[in-house]
Amino acid sequence: MPINIAIDGPSGAGKSSLAKKIAKELGYIYVDTGAMYRSIALFVIRQGVSCKDAKSVVSCLSDIELSISYIDGNQRVILNGEDVSDYIRTNEISMGASDVSAIPEVREFLLETQRQLAREKSVVMDGRDIATVILPNADVKIFLTANDRCRAERRYAELVQKGMDVTLEGIYQDMVNRDKNDSTRKVAPAVCAEDAVVLDNTGFDEEQTLAAALDIIRKAL
Ligand code: DC
Repeated sequence: MPINIAIDGPSGAGKSSLAKKIAKELGYIYVDTGAMYRSIALFVIRQGVSCKDAKSVVSCLSDIELSISYIDGNQRVILNGEDVSDYIRTNEISMGASDVSAIPEVREFLLETQRQLAREKSVVMDGRDIATVILPNADVKIFLTANDRCRAERRYAELVQKGMDVTLEGIYQDMVNRDKNDSTRKVAPAVCAEDAVVLDNTGFDEEQTLAAALDIIRKAL
């Protein structure tokens, strides 16, 4: 039976770095569900449609074919045959992904793809609703969080390293807005599952976060 590990939490908590490392350590597949919402936002924006315009976003869905593939163990998102993985990390796409993710039809559109991946293989899946909606029977559920400032600083460092022209204050504001959007939406709000273990990694480096998570996993499995 495949093992499923769910990692949820707000933006900038380090979910994807952690999930990638756990997957490598345990030999599981890493599934980044945020990248799927981001790819839908990219498609919608390319069509000249506002990500806040739910009706138009929903009408785009029938033109979208999304799949996941792996190159050297790294997840790539394929949107209508195009690998869009390198175009979905901008601030505009982050906000767009948050907007489209609040639309029930968009969530429904992605649900089965996500569940199917977890049925086929042992996965470490990160997102906002993995433990609550997508994989409610996951073997391990971790809610990864850190204080707002710490998360904004991490996201800022990541984007600066990618050569993006951003300010810490701008990142902080966008992050707070996005978290509010994600945690207060009606469908699948980004909340901690009742049976998840909370891991607050404020002040931790990546290695300390990994060690703490592996400890939680070993106890649970
Ligand atoms: O994890 P991320 O920053 O790449 O996610 C982008 C947006 O997608 C985030 O603001 C909320 C949404 N999202 C979601 O609603 N559910 C998920 N499982 C993953 C992401």
